[in-house]
Amino acid sequence: MVAIARNISNDSLEEIATEVVGCSLCKLSRSRKNAVPGDGQTSAKIIFIGEAPGKNEDEKGSPFIGVAGRILDEALQKAGIERSQVFITNIVKCRPPGNRIPEDDERAACRPYLDRQISLIAPRIICILGATAYSSILGGKSITQNRGKIIKRKGQKYLITIHPAAAIYNKNLRHALEDDLSSLSQEIKKMENLDRNTILDYIDG
Ligand code: URA
Ligand code: SF4
Repeated sequence: MVAIARNISNDSLEEIATEVVGCSLCKLSRSRKNAVPGDGQTSAKIIFIGEAPGKNEDEKGSPFIGVAGRILDEALQKAGIERSQVFITNIVKCRPPGNRIPEDDERAACRPYLDRQISLIAPRIICILGATAYSSILGGKSITQNRGKIIKRKGQKYLITIHPAAAIYNKNLRHALEDDLSSLSQEIKKMENLDRNTILDYIDG
């Protein structure tokens, strides 16, 4: 019991990344070039969760660095969200062969890494990018019917939006992603103002 407690309190994003890089808990470990633990700081306010690393990510070991990553970066920039404010990762940390959708056993094997990242960062909001993350995290089905929604589950806020790869050849979806990230930015500002006012109330007595 004591050993487990010490382990949890000593956890860090670096420790998780080291474990992911050496992980062979599911069959994706056999075909990957590089595992992709995620990118960002413990102080991040938002966690973005995609599906799985693609070809570029597998080659470099970093998330969202291909075309989908460029679309995400542009939407972040338009919403005034800085990269330093966000942590970006995926449901599974290794690339599925041919970019197929990660299977249930792979998602389950990889889930503890994501849960540890979430509990270390304790983000103000989690941004769900597309159907794979939506079904894995929230058990949701239709992204088209639910995108743009901010929901709260067990005290954690989530924004549901499309996967940036879906917007590569679709201008409307690109605007949808940009609108959703700008709602995200407003939500963060609202939460921060609330906190600030609470602190001021406390100081004022
Ligand atoms: N698509 C994803 O879901 N994740 C990445 O890291 C890259 C592309
Ligand atoms: Fe381990 Fe996750 Fe990679 Fe599977 S996808 S080998 S569980 S890090």
